[in-house]
Amino acid sequence: MDVNRTMADFSGFYKLPIAERQKRIKEHAALTDAELAVLNDTGALKPELADRMIENVIGAIHLPLGIATNFRINGRDMVIPMALEEPSVVAAACRAAKLALPEGFKADTDSPVMMGQVQLVDVPDIDQAIKNLARNKAEVIRIADEYMKPHAKWGGKVLDFRARSLEGDRKRMLLVEFDINVSDAMGANMVNTTLEGVAPTLAVLTEGKIRLRIITNLATKRKVRASAVWKKSAIGEEAVEGVLDGYELAKADIYRCSTHNKGIMNGIDAVAVATGNDWRAVEAGAHSFAAMGSYHPLTRYELTAKGDLMGSIELPMAVATIGGAVNSSPTARIALKVMGVKGSHELAMAMACVGLANNFAALAALSTVGIQSGHMKLHAKNVAVIAGAQTPQEIDAVASELADKKDFGSETAKGILERMRSGK
Ligand code: MEV
Repeated sequence: MDVNRTMADFSGFYKLPIAERQKRIKEHAALTDAELAVLNDTGALKPELADRMIENVIGAIHLPLGIATNFRINGRDMVIPMALEEPSVVAAACRAAKLALPEGFKADTDSPVMMGQVQLVDVPDIDQAIKNLARNKAEVIRIADEYMKPHAKWGGKVLDFRARSLEGDRKRMLLVEFDINVSDAMGANMVNTTLEGVAPTLAVLTEGKIRLRIITNLATKRKVRASAVWKKSAIGEEAVEGVLDGYELAKADIYRCSTHNKGIMNGIDAVAVATGNDWRAVEAGAHSFAAMGSYHPLTRYELTAKGDLMGSIELPMAVATIGGAVNSSPTARIALKVMGVKGSHELAMAMACVGLANNFAALAALSTVGIQSGHMKLHAKNVAVIAGAQTPQEIDAVASELADKKDFGSETAKGILERMRSGK
């Protein structure tokens, strides 16, 4: 590939209309007209809208949107949209939630307080600067809160700040951390705007130079908790013991713990994606939280006095029911309507319950029958579709033969399909 040529082909790409960008991409990658038609099928996300959401848009990518059923949270029944590409995750959440009935899940959240950090460097006297900030605390909060005024009617407010000295490799730094109630937003925009707004005041009070002004995704003041009891009579003694043993391994070994937490995020991310939330922020918060102290599982399991299995989860959850993609994506708006959540706290609680459910389901399966048989059944359907199966009957028939043969190759699937269609 001629790199210079490629650079030239894409220069000014961002200024072009979508059709012109697609033309360039088509030429660049020798796309067929059929492939171009795939790019043009942006579904509910109209191209003009997608073009306003990110830069250099040429199309949209689609994910299946499924519904997790059987969730009863704090006594209220809820169906929960999940968007992801991985088979078995939705089914596992539904199964685990059903097994927790009739009580279902209990959940609660902290207030929606996000933290934002301002880094100041080259401060001549850090101890003096910290004292100066403390003396002017009310005024600093008042100035910062000016930038939260547009959000005040929903409860947006600067609550507090702290200043501390940090020893870096290159230099000593002063870090000023604000606590900001962001109401039902994720908060990044309002926190970052507030930090940029108040930073010059901090620079004057500390005689320092302003560097980073940014929200932290380790939202430890905005945590969510959920729990459920899976009765021994519902899941069997073997599953109770299996889940406890699986949890034991996650506590003892970081390599297992990473996968344990990944399974939790399977469910949480899927709800984040379905509802237009920033799943990278949720991921960053979850894994940093898991790494506080020493890396630990985000869930816990214990036996109740009756010998049932009690599972619980706790993690930061900075999610929104207003603002950002939550507002602009039509599908995300529908997903939130389907859930019927009244605010970000209810969304956060539902997400924690799904994460716990997915983790319980994974541990129960992994520690007993394994997950591959269920997983491969769905995978086989995927392979059947890729091989060209079109009707539900064709897909089921090809998938079931692949499962019987324990061969999930696309060539095998094509062979089965051809044989079926030729009536042999
Ligand atoms: C796969 O996406 C998730 C699991 O690996 C989670 C786990 O091992 O607990 C099944």
